[in-house]
Amino acid sequence: MKRLARRSILKIKPYEPGKPIEEVMRELGLRRIVKLASNENTLGPSSRALKALRDYLPKIYLYPEDSCFYLKKELARRLKVKRENLILGNGSDEIMELIPKTFLNPGEEVIYGHPSFLIYEIVTRIMGGKPVPVPLKDYTYDLEGMLKAITRKTKIIFICNPNNPTGTMVDKEGVEAFLERVPRNIIVVFDEAYKDYVERADFPDTVKLLKEYRNIIILRTFAKIYGLAGLRIGYGIAREEVINLLSKVRLPFNVNSLAQVAALASLSDREEVKRTRKMNARGKRFLYAAFQDLGLDYVPTQANFILIDLRSVCRRTKRSGKRICQELLKEGVIVREMSSWGLDNYMRVTIGREEENRRFIQALEKEIR
Ligand SMILES: Cc1ncc(COP(=O)(O)O)c(C=O)c1O
Repeated sequence: MKRLARRSILKIKPYEPGKPIEEVMRELGLRRIVKLASNENTLGPSSRALKALRDYLPKIYLYPEDSCFYLKKELARRLKVKRENLILGNGSDEIMELIPKTFLNPGEEVIYGHPSFLIYEIVTRIMGGKPVPVPLKDYTYDLEGMLKAITRKTKIIFICNPNNPTGTMVDKEGVEAFLERVPRNIIVVFDEAYKDYVERADFPDTVKLLKEYRNIIILRTFAKIYGLAGLRIGYGIAREEVINLLSKVRLPFNVNSLAQVAALASLSDREEVKRTRKMNARGKRFLYAAFQDLGLDYVPTQANFILIDLRSVCRRTKRSGKRICQELLKEGVIVREMSSWGLDNYMRVTIGREEENRRFIQALEKEIR
């Protein structure tokens, strides 16, 4: 059957998500599980979102509102853009796929940092494009290196800011200087899934940059700080002409009704967002201190996860990063092992609630001391 498939898809390595809690329960017969593998908000969704979901349930026999009218209206008000500047997706992943579907011809090139979000390569290959990964510098997107990688065939550039899996960011000054030098016939996508966790003041205001640059698309999601990962809803912000093109390849009813009402209700709950940011900042300090105590290197983060360098531990204990992650699993702690990213002896952990962070550290200490 392989011969029947389009050649460009054969090189795709299917994305391996963090292990679901149910799977670990089933396979290891464990009951108390802490999942810190997929950068979800472990405080859960806003109570307002839960109420909106309950209220909406009797109406799910109807198709969703295809235009996402009310959600777009509210997002537009907050972002100070027009509804016409927005497109909603079944997760921001879906919009990530719509972009090459809209703009990429077979053989054209897509530049992104490496290691970064694995979906950029997958959506490039789906459309028969050529992935051009540019190595990070000091765990951070190397914008200068990306400029050098531009050729006449470059069509799209993805910038993950803050970057998953390193948690580092590129700043306002760097982004503005970069955009000045990128030809305007290349689409620059800013994937800002973790923007709401950023503590630094020099994070770029990419929405403002839309006035000057017609070639940028900004992606955001309700899966992270809003705690709605299971409902699948994210959005893109761009010039109206770009949104109109993306809308041509969007299938009808791509965003379900429950996701729409929950997202709208979540936006109104500013207290919950504040609570999550505070928990994340506190959890980050706790984990940094614990890593220092354990003699572990880590990459300082602007997101809700931390990349831990286990290389010295692996040398000392003669075990791979993968093995250490498997041992943690047996303790009921799910974290992400990083070999799919080419980071063999690293681990990525989501910053969770205080008790979850403590459980993770206890299990880790047992494995590596
Ligand atoms: C950098 C980045 N972008 C996008 C997403 C996906 O977001 P969504 O759930 O909205 O598809 C993730 C999810 O882990 C991510 O890490």
